[in-house]
Amino acid sequence: MTTTTEARHGGPAPAGVPLVSVEHVGRTYGTGSAAVHALQDVSFTIAPGELVALVGRSGSGKTTLLNIIGGLDKPDAGRVVVDGREVSSLDEGGLVELRRDVVSFVFQTFGLVPVLSAAENVGVPLRLRKLPTADREARVELLLDLVGLGAHAQQRPGEMSGGQQQRVAIARALANSPRLLVADEPTGQLDTETGTAVMALLRAVVEAEGMTAIVSTHDPLMMSLADRVLRIADGRLVEG
Ligand SMILES: Nc1ncnc2c1ncn2[C@@H]1O[C@H](COP(=O)(O)OP(=O)(O)OP(=O)(O)O)[C@@H](O)[C@H]1O
Ligand SMILES: [Mg+2]
Repeated sequence: MTTTTEARHGGPAPAGVPLVSVEHVGRTYGTGSAAVHALQDVSFTIAPGELVALVGRSGSGKTTLLNIIGGLDKPDAGRVVVDGREVSSLDEGGLVELRRDVVSFVFQTFGLVPVLSAAENVGVPLRLRKLPTADREARVELLLDLVGLGAHAQQRPGEMSGGQQQRVAIARALANSPRLLVADEPTGQLDTETGTAVMALLRAVVEAEGMTAIVSTHDPLMMSLADRVLRIADGRLVEG
């Protein structure tokens, strides 16, 4: 039972090995009569390069599941393996590495630093990796061009539209070339037209960067752009 847990050191995943493996995961909030079974016995895998849409009603467990996959929260039962690392049993140091080297998040509320320009926000993960300044600036420029914001590099989040802010957040998430992009309702705060553009951008960058992504959404368009739809209801996987 060690085939998916052996750490690999760079290079593409061997054929047939999933990038994400969620195995019998359970998560309960609270105890006794107040217990909420947010996830129960959830199992699935995601192949390298796949874009998977995670759908389900409000309260079905999408955010809980994404947080566990990305190492922001721990399951009470089961385990999660991402890119050969058993996320559910990493210590604090392992989680820091995971978020620096393997997984990036995009949130519904963008999560940009208000006092930093678009370029500085995108550059944050590169500073954490101590990339030389010239290399960092070149990569930031490339990323902002990729999301169509080359001309907005010096604007702060408060000076940009919601769709532009989310594109900055996507550029930031791509900065360290993560293996896995986790996006929790990335278009939840955007109007339909802007949301559609952000979806199409996500689809395109996943392909261009050879990434894998799991995106929770209520949007039928995102479902149609995904390679596969996982549906959860009351904490259980019902399709996928
Ligand atoms: N920190 C918490 N403490 C207690 N219960 C929680 C907590 N976070 C989530 N829950 C409960 O767990 C269940 C799943 O919540 P979750 O946020 O994962 O749903 P969701 O599918 O992301 O919903 P939405 O579409 O509204 O974002 C819900 O019943 C919720 O009330
Ligand atoms: Mg949620």
